[in-house]
Amino acid sequence: MENKVNRRNFIQLVSASTILAATGSPLVSFASKSEKVETGKITFLSKPYLQNPEPTAISVFWLTNRPCYSWVEISAVNESPIKVHSTTNGLVDANNRIHKIIIENLRPSTAYTYKVFSKDIILYEPYKLVYGDVIESDTYHFTTWEKDADSVSLLILNDIHDHPESFPLLMQLNGDQPYDFVFLNGDMFDFQKDENQLIEHLLQPCAEAFSTGKPFLFVRGNHETRGIFSRNLADYFENINKSNYFSFTQGPVYFIALDTGEDKEDSDREYGGLSDFDGYREEQAIWLEQQLKSQAFKKAKFKVVLMHIPHYHSGEWHGTVHCRKLFGPLFNKHKIDMLISGHTHVYGVHKPQEGHNFPIIIGGGPNPSGRTIMRLTANQKTMNLVMTRDTGEVVGKYTVSK
Ligand SMILES: [Fe+2]
Repeated sequence: MENKVNRRNFIQLVSASTILAATGSPLVSFASKSEKVETGKITFLSKPYLQNPEPTAISVFWLTNRPCYSWVEISAVNESPIKVHSTTNGLVDANNRIHKIIIENLRPSTAYTYKVFSKDIILYEPYKLVYGDVIESDTYHFTTWEKDADSVSLLILNDIHDHPESFPLLMQLNGDQPYDFVFLNGDMFDFQKDENQLIEHLLQPCAEAFSTGKPFLFVRGNHETRGIFSRNLADYFENINKSNYFSFTQGPVYFIALDTGEDKEDSDREYGGLSDFDGYREEQAIWLEQQLKSQAFKKAKFKVVLMHIPHYHSGEWHGTVHCRKLFGPLFNKHKIDMLISGHTHVYGVHKPQEGHNFPIIIGGGPNPSGRTIMRLTANQKTMNLVMTRDTGEVVGKYTVSK
């Protein structure tokens, strides 16, 4: 009853703010924010999805329709569950809708069970906080990454282009073969419209197919840089090192993921003067050279780069040519073993040749018979890539042995 009364008060507060906004009061910015708050019952807008994996940590993300306080309950087999929430500068993360709970101090190679909880906040005043309903998810499971692993395996998808049905269809081609994570190599969308698109075209199909139990990493393609919601995209995902471009070692492989940006000139009229991808790629080239000179890179048995636009075999548009100029000589000089890309919508395995002294593997496009999933596995001796198209036919293979 008390909750109901307070909820009514809250609705009244929102209504009053809305009126102030309409009359041009100084409270406009507060009011316009409040207007977006849903006043109905709290619900999950997505299932939990796993991000930023490490041997001893993982991040669990999910969305709710209303600002609330959220936490995860997690337990290893035969252990009591512990409650984990996230904090920022002394404040527990709350009154938000995009929930990111970082779970640390886990044991490597250990199976965990978890559930997520969100508690509605129906009144948040300086000295009075009133909670509402608590909702909880189903129970899910994941296993932390192995530390100093001998091997690694991953699945790679690219160019889904707003076809959510492709996720389960391609993922099921992997059958029961084990894998550590999924890599989304750009152009999951045609352009960024709103949160609902993220939920319906990526978060929900991925959760149904794998992401409640296996983490995914996500680099943008040229299409994710477009549309009114493109600047919000980073709020919903977290890669290793919490960056759009990043590197890490897992098993015998040193992975580098680059964000190749737009495919046309920054001055192209389609971008309305709001693109600066030349500068962004130059920044990445400096960072890339540092990674290629690192001990971790030199020590790794295999070196793999993942980026959406391949710097060869993808025409001569500006993005391709700029990547060729900035990244190409570094890849050759430091001898990467493989580049994995998308973008062209034409799958293919391009053996080492003039221009690139390593294979370039390009995944397919969004249309039936042209969609692909790649499976990359590596142990201490061999790295194997197999590309399968949606018909079940293997359309590309490449092996690197050391
Ligand atoms: Fe594409």
